[in-house]
Amino acid sequence: MLRTAVLVSGGGTNLQAILDAKAAGRIPDAEIALVIASNPGAYALERAKQAGVPGVVVQKAKGEAIEAYGERLLAVLRENRIGLCVLAGFLTILPENVIRAYDHRILNIHPSLIPSFCGKGFYGLKVHEAALSYGVKVTGATVHFVNEIPDGGEIIAQKAVYIRPDDTPETLQRRVMEEAEWVLLPAAVEDVAKEIRNSEFGMRNLEL
Ligand code: GAR
Repeated sequence: MLRTAVLVSGGGTNLQAILDAKAAGRIPDAEIALVIASNPGAYALERAKQAGVPGVVVQKAKGEAIEAYGERLLAVLRENRIGLCVLAGFLTILPENVIRAYDHRILNIHPSLIPSFCGKGFYGLKVHEAALSYGVKVTGATVHFVNEIPDGGEIIAQKAVYIRPDDTPETLQRRVMEEAEWVLLPAAVEDVAKEIRNSEFGMRNLEL
């Protein structure tokens, strides 16, 4: 199994969806080996603990150079022999040294149909506020590989969700999670882990 880290910043419902899918046997190619939180208050750490997955906090210090923070993150990933990273509501921009080291090995879930309502400043509820104020009738979620462009990496999977006339940002956020994010992300983790394990690229990684 490919050792996988899930990176989180908040409630961790997407982490929970991955943990539940794993427990149900729907992610046979990845081992959820580590949860990395960007802050000690993230409830996702509690979810990791409940599931018996080790959790660590790697927080960017005030004034710390982004590359130095990246080196600290890389050290944790390497120490834990991580071959795949999943950003599940991780709100710190990943440094380029991490993105380069894990090329095509970092997934992100974004709560809209990219290229709408994405990029710098679009996260969490703000994405749904923007969709509602624009007046789109369909939104959804996207899983994509992470590259140096915020929300700009190759798209892996998308799922559409219809907007209702009485939606608020909160009701829409909840429905996008239930109907799209919690379905798409665990499936994408399995697909990518399987692909990496079946490729030569993956075999090299297993020596990590
Ligand atoms: C999710 O809706 C995720 O798509 C979003 O943050 C939420 C985290 O919730 N991510 C972004 O907006 C990234 N740009 P969770 O902690 O309950 O999984």
